[in-house]
Amino acid sequence: MIKKIFSGVQPTGNLHLGNYLGAIKNFVNFQNQEKAECIYCVVDLHAITVKHDPAKLKNSIRETTATFLASGLDFKKSVIFKQSDVPSHSEGSWILGCTAKMGWLNRMTQFKEKAGKDKEKASIGLYIYPILMAADILLYDTTHVPVGDDQKQHLELTRDIAQKFNQEYNLNNFFKIPEPMIQDEFARIMSLKDGKKKMSKSEISDFSRINLNDTKDIIVNKIKKAKTDPLPIPESIEELKKRPEAQNLLGIYSSLNNQGLKDTVNEFSGKNFSEFKKSLSDLLIDKISPISSEINRLNKDISFIDKVLTEGGFKAHEISSKKVKKIKEIIGF
Ligand code: TYM
Repeated sequence: MIKKIFSGVQPTGNLHLGNYLGAIKNFVNFQNQEKAECIYCVVDLHAITVKHDPAKLKNSIRETTATFLASGLDFKKSVIFKQSDVPSHSEGSWILGCTAKMGWLNRMTQFKEKAGKDKEKASIGLYIYPILMAADILLYDTTHVPVGDDQKQHLELTRDIAQKFNQEYNLNNFFKIPEPMIQDEFARIMSLKDGKKKMSKSEISDFSRINLNDTKDIIVNKIKKAKTDPLPIPESIEELKKRPEAQNLLGIYSSLNNQGLKDTVNEFSGKNFSEFKKSLSDLLIDKISPISSEINRLNKDISFIDKVLTEGGFKAHEISSKKVKKIKEIIGF
């Protein structure tokens, strides 16, 4: 069976190690599998659900595309496009919004987190954001969606919407029910300052994350200052699990080095953090610096980036507009 892969990343400022290890690295793995057709989207419609600066957004869209390419995505193998170039997404989102229930949306924890205390002032776009995400996925008959752990609930909602639509219109498998592809061990990369909080673009301190365009010196400095505890590295995963900061740093090392957490524990157990941090910085520089130089190079080649997005947009439009046409027939337009 051919796997149909779809995923998206918001163009909101620099992407960080969490985006890379939780999602983009997996995008590349899928692209390089033989029986997989991959579509990766810069979800700019999602990015306007919170206050934004139009001039910065334009740059961030290009920079996110550059990050995809610098991380190993190949526009000849995968469809790479931006959401606002393909009207099917907005159209599909409206139609699916007539199937989704308010009660389902009211349960979304990410809306609650992002809207904060003053829910009444959050945009309607932020509230119905997961419906747009469902349209992104369902319009391409997606079978698998590689994402980080924080998107799990949105994926469950997507599945509910697909099932409900199929049922409402007596359809058998019209919308495919997509599988979330969330890694077992490293699905949630945590802040370098607090092992219980997710690494995130919106965290105020830049020392909480490694950005994919950080220089070598910045990486070394951030890892030096990353929170740890006074004990040496433990001997077992069970002990490690009681120490969130240690678990996060060892997790980052394992994921970058494509090895299980157990192997990293075996490699470093009994050693102190200063020694481990040196190895971690070296590994980060080894893996991240080539990506960051390539991002910088591509950022200067605006016409190339725009060409990639235009070509991808045509391909995405061709696929998704056919699905929208069928949807319109089904609902009686
Ligand atoms: P976004 O832009 O917040 O994040 C992009 C991807 O990075 C993952 N991620 C993380 N993974 C591990 N640890 C972290 N600290 C971390 N931070 C972010 C996210 O899980 C995500 O996979 N709603 C989505 C974008 C989207 C989408 C889609 C995804 C829109 N439509 C359709 C899949 C399919 C979002 O805001 O991701």
